[in-house]
Amino acid sequence: MSDKYVLAVDQGTTSSRAIIFDHKGTIVATGQKEHEQIFPRAGWVEHDPVEVWANVRNVVAEALSAAELNHNDIAAVGITNQRETTVVWDKTTGEPVYNAIVWQDTRTGKIVEELGGEIGQDRYKDRVGLPLATYFCGPKVKWILDNVEGAREKADAGNLVMGTMDTWVVWNMTGGVSGGIHITDVTNASRTMLMDLKTLDWDPEIAADMTIPMSMLPEIKSSAEVYGEGRAQGMLPGVPIAGILGDQQAATFGQACFESGMAKNTYGTGNFMLMNTGEDIVPSKNGLLTTVCYKIGDKPAIYALEGSIAVTGSLVQWLRDNLKMISSAPEVEQLAATVEDNGGAYFVPAFSGLFAPYWRSDARGALVGLTRYVNRGHIARAVLEATAYQTREVLEAMEADSGVKLAELKVDGGMTANNLLMQFQADVLDVDVVRPVVAETTALGAAYAAGIAVGYWEGEQDVIDNWAESKRWTPDMDRAEADRLFRNWKKAVTRTFDWVD
Ligand code: G3P
Repeated sequence: MSDKYVLAVDQGTTSSRAIIFDHKGTIVATGQKEHEQIFPRAGWVEHDPVEVWANVRNVVAEALSAAELNHNDIAAVGITNQRETTVVWDKTTGEPVYNAIVWQDTRTGKIVEELGGEIGQDRYKDRVGLPLATYFCGPKVKWILDNVEGAREKADAGNLVMGTMDTWVVWNMTGGVSGGIHITDVTNASRTMLMDLKTLDWDPEIAADMTIPMSMLPEIKSSAEVYGEGRAQGMLPGVPIAGILGDQQAATFGQACFESGMAKNTYGTGNFMLMNTGEDIVPSKNGLLTTVCYKIGDKPAIYALEGSIAVTGSLVQWLRDNLKMISSAPEVEQLAATVEDNGGAYFVPAFSGLFAPYWRSDARGALVGLTRYVNRGHIARAVLEATAYQTREVLEAMEADSGVKLAELKVDGGMTANNLLMQFQADVLDVDVVRPVVAETTALGAAYAAGIAVGYWEGEQDVIDNWAESKRWTPDMDRAEADRLFRNWKKAVTRTFDWVD
């Protein structure tokens, strides 16, 4: 079987990708397509699920054709996805009743406040590991049922189902209305606010509080087992779909963080640091999430602590698309390199409120410390530095919660190509920052899960053996200076609070 390949579908926030890997975990071919970001109002972010599914189909075909392979060469398919983004669709027609509400969307602010009631944000935290926040799925489903005409009646009649993007993709890939399976995996389910972390099952009481009929919820599976096979209109016919992991958990898997205390940080639209905590469900006292890291077949679930940062790479996109200050994302590095430092400017990108460690839905972005001295270069620098400071906040919370002092930080994702940022990251954290040869660890992690499920790879040891370091950044800044910058950042953060009426 090792002469075959494994295909991963990465349904991300800005694009969908299909990547084909060989037995060494090397990329053989890639297909990629961006989808529209829909912003109907301030704070709202949507995707068209029909467009996304069409893109998934296209990128799979593109990758297969680039590699000159066909479905017979594929041993298994793994799915990974932007997490929390929620779709509700009619199971008899296959049509979504509304656009997918994206994880960054803040429209459920009022719903989460009401759900918290007198107890507040932590009402369900001991069961689901998450604070009540606009980030997660349950309140998004409630919003759709409350606001889309006819949705509540259809849901009560058992005709509507919900899912995160993995569920939507797998349902379509396995046949849609003509026999698609309605499933998710434990990692995605752990982001809904509806799954009990101990039982790995839906919590009917929380679903009732959120007025979500249980009949809407997918079946929860492990992250690595054969769920079904491709049969959508000739797409990957007969190929086992055998792995599902939320994108950040997939990256943790692809980075071979299999031991308790091992962590990775992914620099994508947002930043997400996950630390493996083994079979222990570690509650956070410092603003982190407790989440499922992965579950291989019948083996026990492995948990993680997570520091989620909503806006990092998407701030660079915003600089490009909304301010037109750069014409491509990588240009931010050149612009930032035109100056020596931030010139006193700090940019706190609280576009979706603030996630970890603050969980402030009422926060909005702020650019502070401005004087006439500040130019475009300083702003570009402040944009990049924001990612590094937010990462330090999350790392400090993680060390406090876990009692583990990180010796180095494994990184991956698009922004790790930015040398200036990675050096600054090492400087601000005072730890080595290390990037692997295959920086596409998200897709790779999903491929490994699927490949392990069908016996293409034997297990985690193969992942460890294939992992190799490509680049390391070592701290090179005066500690007092790094701490001064970070103190100023903390002050800037306080300027973003209380912006929502
Ligand atoms: O929780 C949201 C996360 O899964 C999105 O990841 O890669 O789009 O930043 P990314």
